[in-house]
Amino acid sequence: MRAVLCRKWGMPDDLEVADVARPPVGAAEVLIAVKAAGVNYPDALMVQGKYQLKPPFPFTPGAEIAGEVLMAGEKVAHLKPGDRVVAFCGVGGFAEEVLVAAALVMPIPADMSYPLAAAFTLAYGTSWHALADRAGLKAGETLLVLGAAGGVGLAAVEIGKALGATVIAAASSAEKLAVCREHGADHLIDYEHEDLRESLKKLGLSPDVVFDPVGGRFAEPAFRAIAWRGRYLVVGFAAGDIPALPWNLYLLKGASLVGVFWGEFVKREGAANLTGIRQLLGWLREGKLRPLISHTYTLEQVPQALNDLLARRATGKLVVVP
Ligand SMILES: NC(=O)c1ccc[n+]([C@@H]2O[C@H](COP(=O)([O-])OP(=O)(O)OC[C@H]3O[C@@H](n4cnc5c(N)ncnc54)[C@H](OP(=O)(O)O)[C@@H]3O)[C@@H](O)[C@H]2O)c1
Repeated sequence: MRAVLCRKWGMPDDLEVADVARPPVGAAEVLIAVKAAGVNYPDALMVQGKYQLKPPFPFTPGAEIAGEVLMAGEKVAHLKPGDRVVAFCGVGGFAEEVLVAAALVMPIPADMSYPLAAAFTLAYGTSWHALADRAGLKAGETLLVLGAAGGVGLAAVEIGKALGATVIAAASSAEKLAVCREHGADHLIDYEHEDLRESLKKLGLSPDVVFDPVGGRFAEPAFRAIAWRGRYLVVGFAAGDIPALPWNLYLLKGASLVGVFWGEFVKREGAANLTGIRQLLGWLREGKLRPLISHTYTLEQVPQALNDLLARRATGKLVVVP
């Protein structure tokens, strides 16, 4: 079977596609034919050796897939060949087949397409965990989303609206903000061309919750604008720099800095994650969530997909169809 291989830390262009042997299926594992794989920023960090998870070489990047079960180990009770599933595999997804621990594999609804399933779980799962679970975002509160046209960002815009919040979307261009508006944002801020804090003042809004997958220079002005008892969600550092804020800011606002790590949440609190996935699937059926897949790629085009993320060219989700 064909798979994208990372043989050394480097840039996406150093990846190659090669024929690799099909691995033996362990007792608690499932072999899945990959029909679609979601592309996520951590994939681009991992091939550079900049992600917390550093697999041994050679490895295949790709953290989430949707596909059809080919084989299930003898201890796997809830899955059988032919089942349509989604899996949070961590690595191995940009390939024709992937071996995954059965505990990380879930059946998908019959009417859910493979690309949608592959684009949905990680981004919407992360943003639900952040907003509903970690921040306890309530109806009537104000949510500021940074990087709002990106994968987790656009999911946060939609989930914020589904939870009844007023949503301010911040992104780097008019085109990206138009996408945020289409997906429900109430207010728009172009933080590349406007002063973030001044624009929030002009809106007359102090965010109760800030969703930040970007970090860098936007974190401090966003935190300084936060409301009393605000919750600042640390989701990621797409801008590269990890912010360091003076502690007196937390004191003055009675505010909390809240870490978000969906992958660990899935492993440690599987039942709570399933509660979130069920709520998300309900909102999807009701039309409250409309995931955007802006581009699909082949296995050979995986470097281009990762480069598009790194160069801020992507909106919504990118998907690989092997
Ligand atoms: N904590 C968790 O559990 C978890 C789960 C998933 C993802 N993440 C993290 O969340 C972040 C976003 O992931 P994603 O998959 O949604 O990525 P994405 O689709 O590429 O979105 C990232 C957004 O960050 C903004 N950005 C600002 N400066 C950037 C730069 N120098 N390079 C790239 N993007 C930049 C871009 O928006 P503008 O151009 O509008 O600024 C972009 O839309 C990543 O740091 C990822 O590691 C965390």
